[in-house]
Amino acid sequence: MSPTNPPDQAALHPLLAPADSTHRFAPETLNTAQLVRLIEAARWTPSKWNRQPWRFILGCRGDATFSLLRTALNPINQDRSLRAAALLLALAQTTDPHGVPMPGTEYELGMAVGRMCVQARAQGWQCRQFGGFDHQRLRLELGVPAGFEPIVVLAVGGSWPPGPGGQTGAGTSRGDDPDHRPVADGVPGDRTENATRLAPEAIAFARRWGRPAWTSS
Ligand SMILES: Cc1cc2nc3c(=O)[nH]c(=O)nc-3n(C[C@H](O)[C@H](O)[C@H](O)COP(=O)(O)O)c2cc1C
Repeated sequence: MSPTNPPDQAALHPLLAPADSTHRFAPETLNTAQLVRLIEAARWTPSKWNRQPWRFILGCRGDATFSLLRTALNPINQDRSLRAAALLLALAQTTDPHGVPMPGTEYELGMAVGRMCVQARAQGWQCRQFGGFDHQRLRLELGVPAGFEPIVVLAVGGSWPPGPGGQTGAGTSRGDDPDHRPVADGVPGDRTENATRLAPEAIAFARRWGRPAWTSS
């Protein structure tokens, strides 16, 4: 692939266009409400039999989970995550409680992380995924049970370079896209009233496996 193959910007929604740089972040912080929205984007991912084979362990810059996740990254990834606002370990369930393999769950986790990245872009953040980290260390130090596999560490942070006035986190505008049509609200019988998902506290942890990142009120 040539490095001079710019994306056809006109064909892509701005949320899906490549970020300017995901090797570095602007020094910003994410608050709980913003993190909750990222988890919501993942939580509502479809999966085979609605099995929801994703879990996340969250750290925000300055807390113990963040330092653990960051120091478990390969050295080059530690440099790249230097100013990330949050690091999220994404895990896939690979076997059921009886030890029976669950093929295809990494695909479903990938969809969940993809949705989270799009939501992050919509909130004005950028993301980079890191597959290069010490899986065994995180498994042990976070108490990950058998049947779940750490797959990727997702870094979320302010866009680099920062926008005018140093502001990021403002959301990517849809602009005047003539093809944009709002999603219909409340189409009878075709919406979320019967949809169910695990509660946020069952899929998003901090410090240790099973300890909710926050409690929903
Ligand atoms: C599953 C996965 C694992 C990745 N692991 C790493 C990693 O360990 N270190 C890194 O710097 N980038 C990692 N990346 C990012 C890719 O290298 C990057 O997306 C690719 O080079 C394209 O660059 P761009 O996203 O800036 O367009 C990973 C991406 C994915 C999807």
